[in-house]
Amino acid sequence: MTTACAPGKVILFGEHAVVYGRPAIAVPVTQVQARVDIEAASGGLTIIAADQNQTHDYASLDSKHPLATIIRLTLEALQVSTPPSATIKITSSIPIASGLGSGAAVSTALARALAAFYGQALPNQAISDLVYQVEKIHHGTPSGIDNTVIAYAQPVYFIREKVLEPFSVPVPFRLVIGDTGVASPTRLAVGDVRVAWQAQPALFERLFDACGQIADQARQRIETGNPAGLGDLMTQNQALLREMTVSSPELDRLVAAASAAGAWGAKLSGGGRGGNMIALVNSDTEATVTQALYQAGAKNVIATTIEGSTHSPL
Ligand code: PMV
Repeated sequence: MTTACAPGKVILFGEHAVVYGRPAIAVPVTQVQARVDIEAASGGLTIIAADQNQTHDYASLDSKHPLATIIRLTLEALQVSTPPSATIKITSSIPIASGLGSGAAVSTALARALAAFYGQALPNQAISDLVYQVEKIHHGTPSGIDNTVIAYAQPVYFIREKVLEPFSVPVPFRLVIGDTGVASPTRLAVGDVRVAWQAQPALFERLFDACGQIADQARQRIETGNPAGLGDLMTQNQALLREMTVSSPELDRLVAAASAAGAWGAKLSGGGRGGNMIALVNSDTEATVTQALYQAGAKNVIATTIEGSTHSPL
């Protein structure tokens, strides 16, 4: 059996503005992941999406289906002309449509597992490029940040269509991630922001610029070992996202609860309107913030350490 996994992700700074060429920062979340197992079998290629209780026959899947697309593109990249006779089993602990990158993680794990099945390894950038093609089906006009952070599985400072800049996290920090439980397809929020930007271009350009500046300041604070200084930047970014109309009453409630419980800062993460928010905590505030999030209606809360070195968390 061949197995591959891919992590979830959160966007720390710059969502939406990143679609318009501003920088953004995203980090992998390894506590949740997508996993793909492939086993040789007779009788064609079967895909079992275990969490959804769905079984697909590859030969009869719509060619635009995301799973059919990533399989076809990966086989092309591997120069394999006939699909294998095998069973592909997909499982994922990443909530769907909640800003944690579930679609990109499934595609990434699937592309990696298929390459391994054929005894090949595709470089991270090749995987990222394949997954980007599938992200276009989910999202319409994705910036490419999700496929990049998930394929590389490391913190990224990302500018659309520019060379990727991984960066170091010399002092690790803790985030709690609170799930509103409200499913919110990214495509809709991204589409609404586009309509609003077309209606009020000067306002939205100013908002996007401000988000980009925050991402640059955040990178500097992370790289100089001052992650506690990210808190006020998160709060500022959240205010800009509210102005862009992508927050929601549920997100606002969780962000306010985290701040009141002692988080250094909090904001929505990803497309918004629902999905997840993040709060910056330390070992003194993590438990209180987690409890406050549940009391404010979070359906699930996970904590994760963002790191790029061997220092211990704040
Ligand atoms: O909702 P998510 O986690 O897929 O994040 C989308 C991030 C956006 O900036 C809103 C869109 C994009 O393609 O970058």
